[in-house]
Amino acid sequence: MTASVSAPKKLFIKTYGCQMNVYDSERMAEAMGANGYVTTDRAEDADMILLNTCHIREKAAEKVYSELGRLRPLKEANPELKIGIAGCVAQAEGEEILRRAPVVDLVVGPQTYHRLPEMEAAARAGARPVDTDFPEEDKFERLPKGPRASRGPTAFLTVQEGCDKFCAFCVVPYTRGAEVSRPAERLLREARDLVERGVREITLLGQNVNGYHGLGPDGTVWSLARLVRELAGIEGLWRIRYTTSHPNDMSDDLIAAHGEVEKLMPYLHLPVQSGSDKVLKAMNRKHRAEDYLRLIERLRGVRPDLALSGDFIVGFPGETEADFEETLALVRAVRYHSAFTFKYSARPGTPAAERPVLPDAVLDARLHRLQALIAEQQRAAQEAMVGREVGVLIEKPGRLPGQMVGKSDHLHAVHVADCAATPGELIRVRITGSAPNSLAGRVL
Ligand code: SAH
Ligand code: SF4
Ligand code: F3S
Repeated sequence: MTASVSAPKKLFIKTYGCQMNVYDSERMAEAMGANGYVTTDRAEDADMILLNTCHIREKAAEKVYSELGRLRPLKEANPELKIGIAGCVAQAEGEEILRRAPVVDLVVGPQTYHRLPEMEAAARAGARPVDTDFPEEDKFERLPKGPRASRGPTAFLTVQEGCDKFCAFCVVPYTRGAEVSRPAERLLREARDLVERGVREITLLGQNVNGYHGLGPDGTVWSLARLVRELAGIEGLWRIRYTTSHPNDMSDDLIAAHGEVEKLMPYLHLPVQSGSDKVLKAMNRKHRAEDYLRLIERLRGVRPDLALSGDFIVGFPGETEADFEETLALVRAVRYHSAFTFKYSARPGTPAAERPVLPDAVLDARLHRLQALIAEQQRAAQEAMVGREVGVLIEKPGRLPGQMVGKSDHLHAVHVADCAATPGELIRVRITGSAPNSLAGRVL
C-alpha cells in the first residue's frame, strides 16, 4: 500500500526579530493550516519554508541571506520545496530579494500575509510573487482560520501595529507603516478565544502599544488602559502584560492602571535609548532624560515593586564620552531589572544614516561598560527577590527530575523544585536562590 495522496504538506517557519513577528508567524501558520499545511520543526521535511525576518539592525537583516545559503542544498535536493521571505526585510527590500537570492519563490510583507495562500499557489504555478502593499483591509480579519488547537498558558496578542514616531535611527515606521489600532471588540473576542484554549497570560503587543487608540464597541475610542481594564474582566485570564511602550504615550490612566488593575503584572518595558538630552534630541525621541526619570517616579509611586526594563543604543552619531556617561547616570538612577543594549547600526533610508558613524572600537567599549552596569543591576534585582513569596505561572518541566519552570509576576524565570503543578497552574513560590538568568524556588 502506498501512503494516502492527500497527506498534508509541511510548513517550516523560522522567526527573527520582535514578538510581533512571533505573533505573525503563528497567524501565518494558521492561515496555511486552513490551506492544507501542518507545521514541522525540521526544515529538511518541509514542502514550504518561510523566514519571518527582521530589518532593525544590519546584522539582523544579513542573517536572512546566510540562512538562505544554508537552505540552498535543500532546494537542490527537492525542487518542489518553496521558500518564502516574510516580515520586515521583505517589506524593506521587496523585489531586490528575488534578484539577490534565486532560491526565493515569494516575498510577502508584514501587512499582506493574509494573501499568503494565493501567493503559495502562484509560486507552485511557477511565478515568483512579491506583495509588499499596505492594504486598507485588516489582515487579521481576513486570515483563513485553521482548527482551534489548544495551546500553552501564555500568548501574544497584537493590538496595534506600525509607528508614527520616526526616531532618527529606526526602520519600523517604514517596514510596518503608519500606526493602526485594531478594534477593541475583536481583541476581546480573540482574548476570550485564547482563554478558552488554555491561555492564562496575555501580552498585548504593538511597536508603540501604549499609543493604542482603538474603536470600542460603544463607539468611543479606547485607550490601552481602557482595553486592559476590560480584558481584566475576562474570567480565566489571570495575567496581562504589554510591550513595547514609548515614554511619551504613558498616559495618566495607564499609570493609574498599574496601581489599580491586579491582573496587570508589575513589569514594564520602557525604552529610553539614551540618557543625554542632546542625543535624545538628535534621535527625535521628543523628551528629555529628566521627563523619563519623573515618569519612572510616578509609576513607582503607584506600584513600588514595578520591575523596569529598557532598550539602549550606544554610539549614536555624535554621541560623546560625556553623553554616554549621562546614559550610565540614567541607568544608575533607574535601577533596571534588565535591559537590552545595542550598538548603533546605520539603516538605509533613515535620517541618522546620513550622519558620520563613530569608530567601532568606541561602540564596543561603550557597549561593554553599559552591559557591565546592567548585569550588576540585574543581579541585584534578582538577589532582592530571594526570600520573597511570588506568583509563578508554570510553563513546562525543568531539566531536573520533579522540577517545573515558570515566570514570576516580575517576569523572572523561576525553577521550582519538587513541584507537582502542571503547565497553566499559577502557584505561590518562595524564592530560595538566584542564578545568572533565573531564580530558584520552592512551592509554598
Ligand atoms: N518601538 C520600540 C522599539 C522597537 S525596536 C520603542 O520605541 O522603544 C527595538 C529596539 O531596537 C529599540 O528600542 C532600539 O533600542 C533598537 N534599535 C532600533 N533601531 C536601531 C538601530 N538602527 N541601531 C541599533 N539599535 C536599534
Ligand atoms: Fe522605532 Fe522609535 Fe517607532 Fe520605536 S518609537 S518603533 S524606536 S521609530
Ligand atoms: Fe524587526 Fe520588524 Fe520587529 S524590523 S524588531 S521584526 S517590527
